[in-house]
Amino acid sequence: MTILVTGGAGFIGSNFIRYMLDHSMDTIINLDKLTYAGNFKSLEGNTNPERLTNIHGDILDAELFQKLLVGYKPRAIVHFAAETHVDRSINTPEDFIQTNIVGTFRMLDTTLEWWRTLRGKEKEDFRFLHISTDEVYGSLLPDEPAFTESHSYQPNSPYSASKAASDHLVRSYFHTYGLPVLTTNCSNNYGPYQFPEKLIPLMIYRALSRENLPVYGDGQNIRDWLFVDDHCVAINQVLNNGRVGEPYNIGSNSEMKNIDVVHALCEILDKASPKPDGSSYKEQIRFVPDRAGHDKRYAINSDKIRNELGWQPSQTFASGLQKTVEWYLSNTQWVDSITKGDYLK
Ligand SMILES: NC(=O)c1ccc[n+]([C@@H]2O[C@H](COP(=O)([O-])OP(=O)(O)OC[C@H]3O[C@@H](n4cnc5c(N)ncnc54)[C@H](O)[C@@H]3O)[C@@H](O)[C@H]2O)c1
Repeated sequence: MTILVTGGAGFIGSNFIRYMLDHSMDTIINLDKLTYAGNFKSLEGNTNPERLTNIHGDILDAELFQKLLVGYKPRAIVHFAAETHVDRSINTPEDFIQTNIVGTFRMLDTTLEWWRTLRGKEKEDFRFLHISTDEVYGSLLPDEPAFTESHSYQPNSPYSASKAASDHLVRSYFHTYGLPVLTTNCSNNYGPYQFPEKLIPLMIYRALSRENLPVYGDGQNIRDWLFVDDHCVAINQVLNNGRVGEPYNIGSNSEMKNIDVVHALCEILDKASPKPDGSSYKEQIRFVPDRAGHDKRYAINSDKIRNELGWQPSQTFASGLQKTVEWYLSNTQWVDSITKGDYLK
């Protein structure tokens, strides 16, 4: 069987492909535009290269997408491709509208047309799984309960607004046309192969480069952290057993203040890669002016996926962070190679 993945050269997509090559017999077709955030290097050294085909292309290209559907007849599409960095969405929102909204729309429309030509079990079993974020729900006050799937959408950044729009389009293709879709809304991920512009890999990269560690505002913003492998397991469970048309929240009840995340990282680095002068990496921390519209707190209630599908995370924040730091320390070549080029500009 074949799964068509979009954005599989990025952080979560590449981890998902590795996971599926290890834990399924599926063939993977990976369509990726290779923006600054995507690199086929992130898929090198996987366990079953003969079951992976990488295709350099844009999800906005409906003709290419249609050819992939007709040619490979996937049992499922797992849609990761997106512009994902909130800061970039504040500076250049247009790319987010194009890829996240128009791109998702074109994929849905092309998929619907192709899906209608299928018959019997092929048609019945097909799934379009849309990977989304908890950021669509907006920001929580300190004492508010965590987001459930029925929480209203209140996106506050161009990034989260574009993801919210794509979630609504996905839902509408189920309710209007019957396309068998699923949506996952996940909390902040961390782990191997994450581009060093997001908090955790950025801090590791800058700490080891002896640069300042910039923390927004007072560092009190709270995120709910999930180790990327646990996300991949959850995606596979939703794909195989999720109820068609339903959204599933994914999170690990690991709420952390940004400043506490950076302190924890520094403490791991102080032991794993001590500085020659014996000083702590914490001395590199600097508070910088806050991000515009910075959401204060995200927290995910993942009871639905836990109760319905039996999923639960395997890593605590402490164990996942330790693994992540160790991975970055042993993979400095990957970091060096992907931080050259566009990112530096
Ligand atoms: N990283 C997180 O913490 C997190 C949390 C929840 C949900 N998500 C969602 O998961 C998905 C993957 O996130 P990520 O962190 O791996 O992102 P990423 O930025 O690391 O990777 C995105 C990938 O999409 C590709 N891409 C971008 N535009 C494309 C286009 N037009 N056509 C084809 N490919 C294109 C990029 O080249 C890159 O490989 C996104 O949809 C994101 O919204 C991410």
